Amino acid sequence: KILILDFGSQYTQLIARSIRELNIYCEIQPCTKPVQYEANLKGIILSGSPFSVNDATAPKPDIKAMADHLPVLGVCYGAQLIAQQSGGEVGKSTHREYGRAHLQSIISDPLLATINEGSQVWMSHSDSVKHLPEGFTVIAKTESIPVAAYKAKADYAKNAVYGIQFHPEVTHSTDGKQLLKNFVVDVCGAKQDWTPATFIQETVQRIKDQVGNGKVVMALSGGVDSTVAATLISRAVGENLYCIFVDNGLLRKNEFEQVLDGYKHLGLNTKGIDARERFYTELAGVTDPEKKRKIIGRLFIDVFHDEAIKIQDVHFLGQGTIYPDVIESVSVHGPSVTIKSHHNVGGLPEIMHMDLVEPLRFLFKDEVRRVGRELGIDQMFLGRHPFPGPGLGIRILGAVSEDKVQMLQEADAIYTQALRDHDLYDKVWQAGAILLPVQSVGVMGDERTYEFTVALRAVTSVDGMTADWAHLPHSFLAKVSNDIINQVKGINRVVYDISSKPPATIEWE
Ligand code: XMP
Repeated sequence: KILILDFGSQYTQLIARSIRELNIYCEIQPCTKPVQYEANLKGIILSGSPFSVNDATAPKPDIKAMADHLPVLGVCYGAQLIAQQSGGEVGKSTHREYGRAHLQSIISDPLLATINEGSQVWMSHSDSVKHLPEGFTVIAKTESIPVAAYKAKADYAKNAVYGIQFHPEVTHSTDGKQLLKNFVVDVCGAKQDWTPATFIQETVQRIKDQVGNGKVVMALSGGVDSTVAATLISRAVGENLYCIFVDNGLLRKNEFEQVLDGYKHLGLNTKGIDARERFYTELAGVTDPEKKRKIIGRLFIDVFHDEAIKIQDVHFLGQGTIYPDVIESVSVHGPSVTIKSHHNVGGLPEIMHMDLVEPLRFLFKDEVRRVGRELGIDQMFLGRHPFPGPGLGIRILGAVSEDKVQMLQEADAIYTQALRDHDLYDKVWQAGAILLPVQSVGVMGDERTYEFTVALRAVTSVDGMTADWAHLPHSFLAKVSNDIINQVKGINRVVYDISSKPPATIEWE
């Protein structure tokens, strides 16, 4: 295992993903937490940071003490911190360096093995190392930076210590992955044996140890995470896993039946609950997006709870929590404001008073998919676009009613099927239709119409944090618009959303 100490850089998760791609397990931990030197820990990487090492409030754990246990690689801030703590000098660069640079004067060293002169690296910093501590060696520079990479002197600590000013985790650093591999494999001696197959084996065993002969209850959503998590738990406890899938009346067309059927094929013991009426009744007339979210979240918990307590002696609650949900972030600006209360089922663990079983707690989304593939889960689950917990409830702007849900389900089904038919579904990150509370005049045959508008949304993204609107072909949009207006009663206008995130968000509410 490799430990990544996070100093608040926007790139920290990218470092972790790059290490995981080498089939080496790693974890991210805030730099303010003490390091636990477990036997399987092989090395430490220090991330970049929005702080300057010269800020009074900058986080400064003792790096030399860490290097007496394990090899250390400091990236950007990490490199500056090591240098400063050992008598070097860090100061503002004459100009802020952002973008591509090229390595020069590379000195033969295990960290830079097979990396050639001129290799492109990505810089993003305003400080740099002005003077290295005595005995430290520059192993590469760039045109504007005299210390692009350095190595600490041999007797600095018990293990090798390196600092690099550039960001190897960013794809623009052409040999960045090679450098990280040189560090974790050759310098630290980590083994590249963390694969979906070994993850499954270890995780199933861990769940067996945790749960024994106990029973686990779990809410499924039809999404990738809960499906993969449930499959892993079921491998460990078999029939002792009780899954519950709630129809909140806000799912896509035919989704309830299709997903239940898919679960059956996966061998998951799943009970489908039709709770549509309860949701429609409580949502009637409610227009505020946050109020809608709260109602949907609370009702979901109520329905799930009512079902779960019917099962005798359950002590465990399964959840599809993934790594980005649990990484503790290091923030310079204090807590951020709530834009949307996304954790619509976040209250479940507190209410259920059960021990949590969270097999995906340390996986990134793409790793969940890889594990799912290894488990033989159908592409219909693994390839699905993300779908918000409150479902169509937040895609019907304003008050939700059963007839509006049906209207939107039809439009959404036409749009989704067309994306699949035109090989576009897998090329966008997420797509969906939104029903606007706007009526406008149209003409059909000789008749005047006064009906609703549907907005189509499709975005490209990596993680949903930022997104660009997808440039879908005009001919495709023309066909979808035509089909929706002709086939869905109540809709006479279709528009396409060309806003990116930020400043817009993916969902409209
Ligand atoms: P936004 O709209 O914030 O969405 O750009 C980012 C991603 O999160 C999904 N989303 C939600 N997921 N509960 C969820 O489970 C919610 O309340 C919620 N709101 C948005 C959205 O679909 C997108 O994938």
